[in-house]
Amino acid sequence: MAAGIACFLLLVLVQRACGDDRPVDATKELRNQLLVRNPGNKILEKWHGDPCLPSPWEGLTCEKRNNMIVITKLNLSSKSLQGPLPTAIGYLTELEELDVQNNNFTGSIPESFASLHHLSKLYIGCNRHLSSELPPALVTANLTIGSESCADRDHCHPESSQRTVYLISTVAGGSVAFTLVLGIFFTCFHRRARQPDKRSFPIIKNPVFSESSTLDPHSSPVVQQFSLKYIDNATCHYKTLIGEGGFGAVYRGTLPHGQEVAVKVRSATSTQGTREFDNEVNLLSTIRHENLVPLLGYCCENDQQILVYPFMSNGSLQDRLYGEAAKRKALDWPTRLSIALGAARGLMYLHTFVGRCIIHRDVKSSNILLDDTMCGKVADFGFSKYAPQEGDSGASLEVRGTAGYLDPEYYSTQQLSTKSDVFSFGVVLLEIITGREPLNIHRPRNEWSLVEWAKLFIRESRIEEIVDPSIKGQYHSEAMWRVVEAALACTEPFSSYRPSMVDIVRELEDALIIENNASEYMRSIESMGGSNRFSVERKIFAPSSVPTEPSSTHCQTIAAPLPR
Ligand SMILES: *[C@@H]1O[C@H](CO)[C@@H](O)[C@H](O)[C@H]1NC(C)=O
Ligand SMILES: *[C@@H]1O[C@H](CO)[C@@H](O)[C@H](O)[C@H]1NC(C)=O
Ligand SMILES: *[C@@H]1O[C@H](CO)[C@@H](O)[C@H](O)[C@H]1NC(C)=O
Repeated sequence: MAAGIACFLLLVLVQRACGDDRPVDATKELRNQLLVRNPGNKILEKWHGDPCLPSPWEGLTCEKRNNMIVITKLNLSSKSLQGPLPTAIGYLTELEELDVQNNNFTGSIPESFASLHHLSKLYIGCNRHLSSELPPALVTANLTIGSESCADRDHCHPESSQRTVYLISTVAGGSVAFTLVLGIFFTCFHRRARQPDKRSFPIIKNPVFSESSTLDPHSSPVVQQFSLKYIDNATCHYKTLIGEGGFGAVYRGTLPHGQEVAVKVRSATSTQGTREFDNEVNLLSTIRHENLVPLLGYCCENDQQILVYPFMSNGSLQDRLYGEAAKRKALDWPTRLSIALGAARGLMYLHTFVGRCIIHRDVKSSNILLDDTMCGKVADFGFSKYAPQEGDSGASLEVRGTAGYLDPEYYSTQQLSTKSDVFSFGVVLLEIITGREPLNIHRPRNEWSLVEWAKLFIRESRIEEIVDPSIKGQYHSEAMWRVVEAALACTEPFSSYRPSMVDIVRELEDALIIENNASEYMRSIESMGGSNRFSVERKIFAPSSVPTEPSSTHCQTIAAPLPR
């Protein structure tokens, strides 16, 4: 019965007879397809008879699986083959390794490859005109896309403009358990005029998400690899230090085409291996969301690990709330609300990221950056786990984060979950409400911890006493209460009582609608004889009574242009 179903599936998948002769048929078809464009090719001439017995055809590896002889490897590398990649390769459904490097294959990877469920290694580099896109079904957590460098085979020569050269990406080992392994393709191109040293800078293009890349450069995750020299030039030898993040020092720079960037430099003392760094870059290159600061490029040379992000011209939320910028101009309540909503959406995206839930681990107002339209974007995700440990006392101290934002449950159990980010985000919400820093030992003892201090007032419904004096009277109290309640729920000591980012996004959307429609809303509840003040006992995250879509936040545009 099971065999029958398997046969049926095979028929559907490959439209081929199901039986012992299947591999024979598939390989014969493979040979015929290759012969169309490669008549007289030496290796194909030797392919006759049974592909596996008595000895396998050159390039094939046959193994016994479930009492059947199947083809597990196909190595066609450096066989001077041209034309499209044969769709018949997809019929070799037991294939585990496929190497077609260093040929003249053209076109794209056939859809039929999607039936290669056992494929764990794929080498397609060094084919000048072969598109690097993979069928989505091929993107499994276990597929390694790799190649030897073919730069020394004259395929990466600076004069060439269009050569696909080198793919890397290895299955994440040990710590990076759920890394979605994605191939990265380096295409060499030549920089003229602006590059005094005439060096070439490879572009890494992630094939998986590049479907629309030719149409819209904003939607395609293109992460560039830069040389150390390029970074050196872009930052004018690291002239302008703009911050000191968990990852390391941050410098301001300008790319040759004028884009302003923030350059984060992780020093040579890094404990993290190059391979882990590469894996992380691979992962992050697939992450694009308008509320996340995108990775533009990286450099991994001489033990230096450098990350390049677009420069966010309006600084951090922290600076706007109680830093230097706040002294110049206070942030109004609707803007605070929309920034919080933006950041919440960014975190929601990370927490629900396909293939691997990404926990930020260091959510705080200084990691929420503001672009030129005041759109809130979460920064520093993905790499925060590599942040140097605070105090640097013992290597066993695994809990990381920033004092004042740290989830007490995570701290005591060391069990990390998305709810730890939720706790920290709750602290950020309290910051936007009160304009206070999460921890300040220069205040009276009972006000050291923002969470503890604010909770006392919230429980007694005395929020007017904790709201930032600079926004007093400039907010709608129902919108304020929504945010206060969300903050309270987020900072529950037990993570199971905390909402998810999805809930929080919904609640903040409602709050923003209410704030934006304040006058209208006031009128409607007043005509119903209601009060605009709700008690804290009101069920948190009750379905919204406002049926409209979220009105515009400040985040409708994609604010960080990618290099063209
Ligand atoms: C394929 O064969 C070439 C030599 O013909 C070898 O260098 C290469 O490593 C092989 N590929 C794999 C994936 O084993
Ligand atoms: C690709 O084709 C060109 C021209 O036909 C030839 O010179 C080159 O050697 C071929 N490359 C490979 C890897 O077979
Ligand atoms: C990946 O490989 C491991 C062991 O090699 C296996 O346990 C796991 O099921 C595989 N995952 C997928 C998605 O194939």
